[in-house]
Parts: sequence; structure tokens; C-alpha cells
Amino acid sequence: MRTHGKILAIFLCAALSALLYFYAGNAADERSLKQAWVGSSAALKGGNAAPADSAKTPQQAAQGQPRLNWQGIKLLTQPTSMHAKPRVRTEWGRALPRGPIIGETMHLAAVVCGDRVEEAFTMLKSALIFSLKRIKFHIFTEHALATVFDKGLKRWPRFLSPRFQYSIYPITFSAENAEEWKNLFKPCAAQRLFLPVLLKDVDSLLYVDTDVLFLRPMDHIWSILKDFNSTQLAGMAPDHEIPKTGWYSRYARHPFYGAAGLNSGVMLMNLTRIRGTLFKSSLIPTGLSWEDLLQPLYEKYKDLIAWGDQDLLNIIFHYNPEYLYTFPCQWNYRPEHCAYGSNCKGAEEEGVSILHGIRRVYHDDKHPAFKAIYDVVRKYPLEDNMAHALFEPLQSKFLDTVNTLCGRIPQIFLKQVEKTMRTMFEQRLIVPTKPQPK
Ligand SMILES: *[C@@H]1O[C@H](CO)[C@@H](O)[C@H](O)[C@H]1NC(C)=O
Ligand SMILES: *[C@@H]1O[C@H](CO)[C@@H](O)[C@H](O)[C@H]1NC(C)=O
Repeated sequence: MRTHGKILAIFLCAALSALLYFYAGNAADERSLKQAWVGSSAALKGGNAAPADSAKTPQQAAQGQPRLNWQGIKLLTQPTSMHAKPRVRTEWGRALPRGPIIGETMHLAAVVCGDRVEEAFTMLKSALIFSLKRIKFHIFTEHALATVFDKGLKRWPRFLSPRFQYSIYPITFSAENAEEWKNLFKPCAAQRLFLPVLLKDVDSLLYVDTDVLFLRPMDHIWSILKDFNSTQLAGMAPDHEIPKTGWYSRYARHPFYGAAGLNSGVMLMNLTRIRGTLFKSSLIPTGLSWEDLLQPLYEKYKDLIAWGDQDLLNIIFHYNPEYLYTFPCQWNYRPEHCAYGSNCKGAEEEGVSILHGIRRVYHDDKHPAFKAIYDVVRKYPLEDNMAHALFEPLQSKFLDTVNTLCGRIPQIFLKQVEKTMRTMFEQRLIVPTKPQPK
């Protein structure tokens, strides 16, 4: 109980100083954080203020912090600093974006069926608000929902339109028994297996389940693609941190990857490589292409698999472990990482990067910490100030959950959001390349 109190106290102090910091920033030039954030993308375009983190792997980024120069920020943000105000304004005025963002586009795929629409919009929103590079959304959905997405995304504020593009596709299976694929596990879930076949023009992709929330720029997980060695073509996180108590090691009746299996809710894919590689399996010794492998693999294992397409992925990477990059648990953070004591070391160190609310925890009361974050992001109006309408409610709503299993560790859940917000501010305030005013 005592440590709990201490943690809370530390967290509250950190939260308070962060808020002070944001408000001080706002007071300095009365611009909203939203503009700050838009401005930062323009700075990227100019190429002179690329956020230091974006070029790094999450591990490197974690080592490099803190990059924040509190002294420098104080200089620029104190309303009493007569020189700071005009300087910031001039620089900032120049940085305001016009036209599209130049540079690589990141690709984000989701498959949405049934009642997951609101969840999907919330996920897309979280991807967009924190990210730096432009994102192309690939949304696979049922016929009836296509217009819902089209209308919904068109309604997002105009100032965001340079930051994303989207395509909406019908659910399609290239295999013979499409109906059977469609009903495997959950409606539509098996669609993701066919992404390499369906998105022939796309080189690489991040697939996420609809119950995922980004708590830091998607750019950071995207940069892991560059860390793949010459044989790796996909990246996933383990299904459990403690193999002994994981589902696969205890119950699976089919081969699976590693000691605890893989969770496919967040999956990086180099589609070019997947399309060009032969996969070993128990079926034939020579190996099969991804496209030719899926159907026979499904036929062979369909009576043994419990989690549908995730099990098929586990079988595939069981036989081809050298093709897989395992990223740490903070990139796919689920209730089991905190419900029975904290067991995700990576999240303890650098905070949760991607939250994964499996088993519908955003919609029931089993894990209020997960639900609190989801609700705040869902309600955040995209045109509103991020400090007031996102960060502040995130903190207060999360603190309401400190007496729950996962709510005990607010510093783990909110660390990346706070860091991302600081970086946005830092870019606005420390964009000037000229020396600081004396
Ligand atoms: C994916 O792999 C292909 C082939 O090895 C490579 O040319 C491409 O740069 C990779 N994509 C990314 C984003 O790393
Ligand atoms: C790439 O990494 C994987 C996983 O660590 C490993 O099994 C594989 O041998 C590596 N490939 C090369 C070419 O080093």
C-alpha cells in the first residue's frame, strides 16, 4: 500500500509539472496545441526539425530520453520573457503547413465487421493524432459499413486532410471456400491473412485489430521495419510474457511460435517479402508461397485451432522462425500484462506504446484502466486542444482507476502519451535554429 501511495505521489507530481508546462506554453503565445501539432508536421516538411525519435527504434528512442531542455523551454514559455514571444511567433508563423506532407507514407490496415465501427474510428484517430508522417488507412469492411467509414472520415476536420488518405475495400478471400474463411474465428478476422495477396501495390503494412489504441506516434513502430534482418518479413509480440501460464503452452493442440506463441493483434508486415518468400510447413518439404500455403494449412489444422487465423500465423512461424521479428510487449499491451501483477518489463521501462483492449475490455467494467483511456480518446474532438481535451482528461480519468488491478500503474500507461505531447511542444518551442534570445 505504501509503495502504491508513493507511486501515485510521483505520478501526480509529474502530471502536474507536465500540465503546468503545457499551460505555460499556451500562455506564451495563445496558440492551441492543435496548431502546435500541425506546425510540427510542417517543420518536418521543411526537414529542419525532424523529431529526433522518429528515426530511431523504440529501444534507441527510450535510451535517448529525456531530450527535453526544461531550462530552454522556460526561457521561451515564460510570458514575462519579452524577447521570447515575438521570436516564437515569427518562427511559428513560418512553420504553419500548407499542402501535403512530403516523405514516406505509412500504411495502416484494419478489418472491421459487425459492431466494431466506433472502436475502429477511435483506433484510427489515435493513430493520426500522435503520428508525424502521413498515414494511408486500408479499411476492409462489410458492404453496409463502407459508407459509414467514407462519411465518417470525410467529416474529420479539413486541417487533417494532408495527414491521411484512405481506401475502403470489401471483405475478400482469394481462396476457394470464401464462406468458410469468413466464419473462421470471428467474422472477417481471417481477412488479414490475405493482405499480402490483396494489397499487391503496397510494400509494407501495419495491421492492427480494431481494439488497439496508439499511445505514441505510429512512426516509431513503423521504423522497426527497417530493423528487420534479411530474413525477417513480419513482426509480432509474444502472446504471453510468462510462457508457463500462457494459453498456447498450456492448451494449444497445434505447433506454435516460440515458448508462448504470438499475438497477431499488432502485426508489421513487409508484404513485398511475404509475397516473394517460400514458407516451410509440415505439408510439403519444398515450401509454398504465402498464397498457396493458407488453404492447405487451414484444411490440415482446422479441427485443432481455437483462435482462428492467429493460430495459423503461429503455425506458419513455428516452421519459419527466422522470418519473424518479435517486438516487446509494450507494443501490444493487454490486460494480462497488468491484471496479475505487472509482467511487461518493456512497458515498465518505456511505458505502454500500443494498448490492446482484447476481450472487449473497453466496453465492460473488468478493466477500468483500459476503458478510461478508450473513452477519453473516443470522446476527444479532433478540432480541440490536445492538452485540455485529451491529456488532461486522460490523467484525471485514469486516476479514478488507481484502485483497480491495472490502474495501479498510471506511470506505465501514460508515460508515452506524456512524452509525445512534450515532443510536440518541444518542436513548436524549440524549432528555431537561431540562438535563443538572451
Ligand atoms: C521490404 O522488403 C523489400 C525487399 O527486401 C525492401 O526492398 C523494402 O525496402 C522493405 N520495406 C521496408 C519498409 O523496409
Ligand atoms: C534474423 O533474425 C531471426 C530472429 O532473431 C533469426 O532467426 C535469423 O536467423 C536472422 N537472419 C539472419 C540472416 O541473420
